[in-house]
Amino acid sequence: MNINSIFKPNLFAGKVAIVTGGATGIGAAITQELGYLGCDVVIASRNEEKLNTATEKMNKNPKVVGNISSIPCNIRKEEQVQNLMHSVVKKHGKVDFLVNNGGGQFMSPAENISAKGWNAVIETNLTGTFLCCQHAYHEWMGNNGGTIVNIIANIFRGFPFMCHTAAARSGVDNLTRTLAIEWAEKGIQINAVAPGTIYSETAAANYTQDVFKEARKMQPTWRLGTPEEISAIVCFMLSPAAAFMTGETVRMDGAEGLYNCFKKIPQHNKLPAWKWN
Ligand SMILES: NC(=O)c1ccc[n+]([C@@H]2O[C@H](COP(=O)([O-])OP(=O)(O)OC[C@H]3O[C@@H](n4cnc5c(N)ncnc54)[C@H](OP(=O)(O)O)[C@@H]3O)[C@@H](O)[C@H]2O)c1
Repeated sequence: MNINSIFKPNLFAGKVAIVTGGATGIGAAITQELGYLGCDVVIASRNEEKLNTATEKMNKNPKVVGNISSIPCNIRKEEQVQNLMHSVVKKHGKVDFLVNNGGGQFMSPAENISAKGWNAVIETNLTGTFLCCQHAYHEWMGNNGGTIVNIIANIFRGFPFMCHTAAARSGVDNLTRTLAIEWAEKGIQINAVAPGTIYSETAAANYTQDVFKEARKMQPTWRLGTPEEISAIVCFMLSPAAAFMTGETVRMDGAEGLYNCFKKIPQHNKLPAWKWN
C-alpha cells in the first residue's frame, strides 16, 4: 500500500497507539498512517496469521518509521482485552491513543436474525468497544489521560438489513458522548467517526452479495470512500488540531447518509390512515 499523509512527519513521534482490527482495511490504513507519522502502533484482532503478515509488511516499508507490533485479542473476551491493555503498558510504558476499529456484522432482514447472531454483533461492536475503553482507562488513561477514536457506521437514518450493527453503533455513538463527559476530568478525549461505504478487499470479502457494487450507485460522489480517507480524519482527531473536540461523531460518508437507502420499499397500502368514525 502506498502510504502518505497530509500531516507533518513525526507528528506522533514518541506516541503509542492501539488499533483494533489494524491488520486489514480501514484499520491497516490507520496503522500505516500513524506509523508513517512516527507512532508506535500495536494492532490487535483475532487472527494471529493476519496480524503477523501485516506487521511484517508494514515494518518492512521504509515509510513506516514507528514500530508496528501485534497482540492477538478477541475484543469480545474481557480477559483478552485486559491482557492487551496490560501488555501494551508493560512493554511501551503507556497508551496514548486507542482506536476502536475492530468489528463486523452480516446482512440479514431483521426478522431472520437469530438471538445468537444478534448477540454476537452486539458483543463485538458495542461490548467489545466498551471493554477496550474501560480497560484502557484502568491500565493507563484513567491516571494519565489519552485519546480514543471509535469507528462506528453511518446509522443515523436507520441501517436496513443490519439492524444489529445499527443498534450497536448507535450505542457506541452515545457511549462516545457519555464518556467524553465522565472522563473529561481525567484528560481523556473521545470522538467517533461514522464511515460511509469504504471499499477494501477484506471489507468486500465479508459479504456474500456485492454490496459495494450496489452501494456505488447510491453515492452523491459516484464513488466509494477509501480506507485512507477514514485514516485522515482519525489522525486529525488524534492530533493537537482536535484538542478542543470531544464527544463528537463525524460522518465521513460523501453525504451517502443524506441521500439514499439500501432498502427500496415496494408500493403498498399496509399503513393506511386511521379511519375516524
Ligand atoms: N468498510 C465499510 O464500508 C465500513 C463502513 C462502516 C463501518 N465499518 C467498520 O469499520 C471497521 C473496519 O472495517 P473494514 O471495512 O476495514 O473491514 P475489515 O477489513 O474486515 O476489518 C475488520 C477488522 O476487525 C477485526 N475484528 C473483527 N471482529 C473482531 C473481534 N471480535 N475482536 C478483534 N478484532 C475483530 C478483524 O480482524 P480479525 O478477523 O483478525 O479479528 C478485521 O481486521 C469495522 O468495525 C467495520 O464494521 C466499515
